[in-house]
Amino acid sequence: MEDLEATVQRIRTSVKTHSTWFEGALPLIASENLLSPYAKELLISDFHSRYAEGLPGERYYEGNRWVDEVELECLRLAREVFHCEFADVRPISGTVANIAVLRAMAEPGDRFGSCRLAEGAHISSAAFGAFGIRSVKPVYYAFDPKEMQLDVDATKRILLQERPKVCLFGLSLFLFPFPLTELQETLREIGAPGWYDGAHVLGLIGAGMFQDPLHEGCAVLSGSTHKTLPGPQHGILLSDSKDPELRKKLTQAAFPGVTSNHHLNEMAALAVSLAEHLKFGQEYARMTIVNAKSLGAALHQRGFNVLCAEKGFTESHQVAIRVEREGGGESVAKRLESARLVVNKNLLPGDKSPKNPEGIRLGTQELTRVGMGPSEMDAVAELMDDLLHKGKSPEEVGARVQELKKRFTQVHYCFGAGEAAYRYYDLVQPGSV
Ligand SMILES: Cc1ncc(COP(=O)(O)O)c(C=O)c1O
Repeated sequence: MEDLEATVQRIRTSVKTHSTWFEGALPLIASENLLSPYAKELLISDFHSRYAEGLPGERYYEGNRWVDEVELECLRLAREVFHCEFADVRPISGTVANIAVLRAMAEPGDRFGSCRLAEGAHISSAAFGAFGIRSVKPVYYAFDPKEMQLDVDATKRILLQERPKVCLFGLSLFLFPFPLTELQETLREIGAPGWYDGAHVLGLIGAGMFQDPLHEGCAVLSGSTHKTLPGPQHGILLSDSKDPELRKKLTQAAFPGVTSNHHLNEMAALAVSLAEHLKFGQEYARMTIVNAKSLGAALHQRGFNVLCAEKGFTESHQVAIRVEREGGGESVAKRLESARLVVNKNLLPGDKSPKNPEGIRLGTQELTRVGMGPSEMDAVAELMDDLLHKGKSPEEVGARVQELKKRFTQVHYCFGAGEAAYRYYDLVQPGSV
């Protein structure tokens, strides 16, 4: 019979090895981040083991007294961070939050405004993603690939002609704020509420460093809480709409629509992360964007085809590079990984194949969280240049990555800053299981 304790130890070893590898790596995946020590602690609290269906004070199970206290705090903090009257913290991921919005705002067969996947849209707006689940059809905006931005005049014409029911604004490859103010009048004219998927830029929005969709014409803001908002893996719904019917629909979509229980440990960790964002978020978001611009410039100087050079590369945490010359997104991402630089291949406008697109996407939110600044961004660009342009070996570059990262292994911009960012918490000694 299988030695199951050995199996458990193998699993543990894999996770420990993963943690150590990341500690000595440069994680540049734009959708990831590190938790603060307080938030991490709450993830393994007893909240993990409990159920709390419904809303605080109106639960279906007993034992929720302190869960209710924390959830009310979490809701209050969410409203404060995003300056809005409505929050729901029950969706358990960004995708689940999006399905909740679709449940609340769409009927099967409705048409929603959206960008295309190759223009940076998330799979939520694809037929094989959340749109498809609700049988929603896209009406595509006009997108200017050179500007990585909507063509406002052409988009207005499309909206007036096609009259989608709701207009979704939100991207996974997200370099610049949407021109929401410019489109507001057209949206009003066609009676389409705006829906903003801020999964990537939620922390930048909360810090007042990107745009303020709820006050620039969008009725709903959905998001993940673990990208530029450095919280737990979870989702959120926010609105400042005065329409009680919309709030009711969102509430019912969150539960019982798309959740039963809502992962109370994550909710508690989110409450802490929101409080920390109020205190540290502004400086963190500012530095994340400064770093992204610096990284874009440093890569551009070294001959990389960074998108939107003439616009300062980015206004977010992301930088996009066309790596056709370096061998394409798939091969470049793999070569970078072999030298401990972690990025993802990414579709760029015009790309047809998601398996081998021409782009890679980099995000600076994690490197900023461990304390890096513009001079380290220059060092990152140098490492990429040496590996991809100057023929240096992955072993040599990987060793330099480890050397650089040694000084950046602690979490910043939170209470209890200085805690080891990649620490594995041993709770049990082998043999005592
Ligand atoms: C724009 C956008 N929306 C939604 C999501 C989904 O978020 P989650 O991974 O939390 O489900 C993502 C994920 O990266 C995203 O980029």
